[in-house]
Amino acid sequence: MTILSNISLKPYNTFGIDVKAKHFVSVKSIEELKSILKLKQYPEKFILGGGSNMLLTKDIEALVIHIDFKGIEILSKDKNTVNIRASAGENWHDLVLWCLTQDFGGIENLSLIPGNVGTAPIQNIGAYGVELKDVFVECQALHANSLKIKTFTKKDCNFDYRNSIFKKDIKGEYIITSITLNLTTKIHKLKTSYGAITEELNKMNIKNPTIKDISNAVITIRESKLPNPKLIGNSGSFFKNPIITKSHFNTLKINFPEIPSYLVSENKIKIPAGWLIEHLGFKGKRFGNYGVHEKQALVLVNYDDAEGDDIFKLSQLIQSTVKRIFNINLEIEVNII
Ligand code: EPU
Repeated sequence: MTILSNISLKPYNTFGIDVKAKHFVSVKSIEELKSILKLKQYPEKFILGGGSNMLLTKDIEALVIHIDFKGIEILSKDKNTVNIRASAGENWHDLVLWCLTQDFGGIENLSLIPGNVGTAPIQNIGAYGVELKDVFVECQALHANSLKIKTFTKKDCNFDYRNSIFKKDIKGEYIITSITLNLTTKIHKLKTSYGAITEELNKMNIKNPTIKDISNAVITIRESKLPNPKLIGNSGSFFKNPIITKSHFNTLKINFPEIPSYLVSENKIKIPAGWLIEHLGFKGKRFGNYGVHEKQALVLVNYDDAEGDDIFKLSQLIQSTVKRIFNINLEIEVNII
């Protein structure tokens, strides 16, 4: 474990923004993490996981601690389920692939989501009708000040749409070290009702899909719509899908009769932010080396060495235009650093 100086963070964030860490260290175990957190000469610390949900707009003065714990283990099995524990530094998609090789079901719809296991609970990752919370049992986390490990059950985590206790009440206080998931081993609960999955399985001519088929369908859908961060820098959905009241929705319907919507509860309606942004003409717009993705308007992209601040300013322009035209507050999903 060596503390390095003046390290480019470009390989460590999926947006591919080239800012520098004044000091940088990779930690491979909880013990290493604890000893680094004790160092008095670096009062400020910045925890870095997979770097898939952040937009870096400036050099980092704090000591950057890259969480690189590895390991996946089977904790227990019963008739039809298994509990597995994965370390925070494992790549999320590698975990999905490992589960498929074991025929463990539950996270196949979450295939190809960028980022690491340790950050998955923070925003309760979700896609194609499944959220992490559906299979989540608990996670272990280290308190950054007391250096004590605490277990957070699913209930403790207060999961919500792209949200959890780690983003709200205790933001920045804990470092997630591992997560435990409960997965199926024999009778899988397949979630194929999401329109795009049904279509893709039909195209693949599959009537009785396995979890591997679903994963393949999701991978095909994602690859067709979402830019591969290894080729074009991005952080997935930049904004959350906004939830508005029914009366607000009815007013919008008058001027925008074709606006798509999903009923969330009696008085709450979710609107796809991608539609709002596309409707305003931003989809596929390129501003030099950054812009809005051509196939999914929710995704902002770095084509080549863009500045994080330029992308942030573009997001603000999108927010203010959406506010002016639709009177909707678009919330940014990505952490702006
Ligand atoms: N739409 C447009 N134009 C666009 C994009 C979307 O009009 O450019 C409208 C269409 O009406 C489309 C609808 O939005 O039918 C839904 O689009 P999509 O299925 O692509 O899903 P999304 O709501 O845009 C959410 C998640 C994605 C996740 C997909 C699939 C959020 C913020 N995003 O996107 O998650 O992959 O559903 O479940 O909830 C991520 O969080 O990084 C992410 C990619």
